[in-house]
Amino acid sequence: MIAITGANGNLGKATLAFLIKRTLPKNIVAIVRDVDKLSEYAGSGIHIRTADYEDQESLEKALTGVDRLLQISASATGVRAMAQETRVVHAAVKCGVKEIAYTSTLFPHESAHFQAAHICRNTEELIRQSGMRYVFFRNSMYHETIPLFIGEAMGDGRIFYPSGIGRVSFASRKDIAEALCNVLTGPAFSNATYDITGSETFSFADIALTLKDIAGFKEAAHTDISPEDYRKGLLGFGLGDEEAGFYASMADSIRAGEFEKTHHSLEGFLGRKPLGVQEYLKALF
Ligand SMILES: NC(=O)c1ccc[n+]([C@@H]2O[C@H](COP(=O)([O-])OP(=O)(O)OC[C@H]3O[C@@H](n4cnc5c(N)ncnc54)[C@H](OP(=O)(O)O)[C@@H]3O)[C@@H](O)[C@H]2O)c1
Repeated sequence: MIAITGANGNLGKATLAFLIKRTLPKNIVAIVRDVDKLSEYAGSGIHIRTADYEDQESLEKALTGVDRLLQISASATGVRAMAQETRVVHAAVKCGVKEIAYTSTLFPHESAHFQAAHICRNTEELIRQSGMRYVFFRNSMYHETIPLFIGEAMGDGRIFYPSGIGRVSFASRKDIAEALCNVLTGPAFSNATYDITGSETFSFADIALTLKDIAGFKEAAHTDISPEDYRKGLLGFGLGDEEAGFYASMADSIRAGEFEKTHHSLEGFLGRKPLGVQEYLKALF
């Protein structure tokens, strides 16, 4: 059986939508915290099991009989996220899962500015040592993060973001889901690591120009505010210290060029060009 953690999340649900077209429902295990969040699949024949990353026993129950697992990285931050992802790996080993695909991040290195990179780095290492065969998807930023980063600029094109001249090889979450489905239904995992990126890179000045083209915003431009001002702004919006630190680390990582690598592996999995940033943004207007 093939299982997906975080199966009701954006990436999990998108992957599930591809998977159900490619394999029998009885071969699919969707792991969620709350079955009501996957109610559209009730009666579909897939197994919907509950587990919480905070509860080792629930994970072991949910992973019983699973051969291939897609472990979607945790949405928590800091030590909590690290402990959650560690529990999933330990439960998978205990349950005899043979193959694991894990959604990592593009630059999971010791020197990374992006906080989540350190969680991903740790989880990758645990999986490497686990004896399970693996596939790592080192994902670039999703297209869908752009509106989150630029906020009100979706209405006027004036972007205030501390990314300097940093560029990002944004990729579509739906394309990543399709590629993951191909891996989950494909040949034996061969301990492979893929950089999953779009075909091009964009700076936030490029995104402002794209918005100018698409939406006709006359004043569209990117202003590189200071990281300190950005952090203060986030705190001013009511974010806690930890959350503000997380988002600030994302901007720092973009500024440092940690998301500017491109690779053709996503295109290889899809057998076509991945969706571009222009197409994604166009569809929002
Ligand atoms: N590359 C990027 O640009 C980017 C951007 C955002 C996130 N990410 C990473 O990619 C992952 C997938 O993205 P996404 O958009 O699908 O995120 P998402 O929509 O926030 O989904 C997160 C999933 O994790 C589940 N989850 C959270 N806490 C859990 C817990 N304690 N136990 C069990 N399940 C739990 C959520 O379930 P509930 O609905 O019950 O909370 C949800 O199903 C994220 O978790 C994050 O690590 C990457």
